[in-house]
Amino acid sequence: MRSRRPVEAANPQQTVSRSCSSKMADLWQNAMDHAVALARRAGEVVREALQDDRKVMTKSSSVDLVTQTDQKVEQLIIQSVKEKFPTHSFIGEESVAAGEPCDLTNAPTWIIDPIDGTTNFVHAFPFVAVSIGFSVNKQMEFGVVYSCLEDKMYTARRGNGAFCNGVPLQVSDQEDIKQSIITTEFGSSRDPEAVEKIFSSLRSILCIPVHGVRGAGTAAINMCHVASGCVEAYYEIGIHVWDIAAGSLVVSEAGGVLMDVEGGAVDLMSRRVVAANSKTIAERIVKEIDSFSPPRDDAAPPPV
Ligand code: IPD
Repeated sequence: MRSRRPVEAANPQQTVSRSCSSKMADLWQNAMDHAVALARRAGEVVREALQDDRKVMTKSSSVDLVTQTDQKVEQLIIQSVKEKFPTHSFIGEESVAAGEPCDLTNAPTWIIDPIDGTTNFVHAFPFVAVSIGFSVNKQMEFGVVYSCLEDKMYTARRGNGAFCNGVPLQVSDQEDIKQSIITTEFGSSRDPEAVEKIFSSLRSILCIPVHGVRGAGTAAINMCHVASGCVEAYYEIGIHVWDIAAGSLVVSEAGGVLMDVEGGAVDLMSRRVVAANSKTIAERIVKEIDSFSPPRDDAAPPPV
């Protein structure tokens, strides 16, 4: 049996007084409150859209799906943030797909995935998240992941812990990989070499052996599951910065660690991540991963 790794208990009511002593920090708390309200509103749009027929379009491949709801939700979030915080920058999944740059600068930047788990949404598979991360000086200040079909609001503010519907989260304290559940995804690349490596890593991890391998179909919710302590780790190669920005802070504020798939510090633009309850589990997973490097999110677009 596993138990939860203890983290310093934090009361969401205390976040303002504990970390927001300066005017600037107060502003981030305002921004976070706004992000929570927007994620909730976006979740309503997603739930309503599930009642209707969903028109499905494709992006980088025939299995990289997008719907009008993804676009509508992203516009809703960006427009509202622009009105309230006109100087802030954005990285949004659908804006980048439409040709906007994907550069993480020192500016206050909202990193938005309007629907993380678009394939789930299309099929009404019941894990769909609105993910909003916020970074300043390239450091995540807050993360909000709203699992809108479960009505679970995951929040994390740097230095103030992680919560689900206001209840503090703690990662599991299980350090034996053989007693662990690991989550991962197959992603939307069907490049034979990448698929081969994904299966090779999966085979190695499964045969350690671990208790099980799972996947919710959304990177953001997989990371929140690590933070909640119901799984020990999540890893994936091929995700994007908007899939993991918010979730990465939820994991670290719940006492977990983030690592690159070859070890060392995670780079949110590298499209590779291991999120685990501990360094021990993260490093054990790294040993089994057959790594590769998809084109970075901030890579220059190919010349026309
Ligand atoms: C996808 C999901 C999926 C992961 C993909 C992501 P999207 O995000 O997080 O679980 O395997 O790599 O791109 O496209 O649904 O926002």
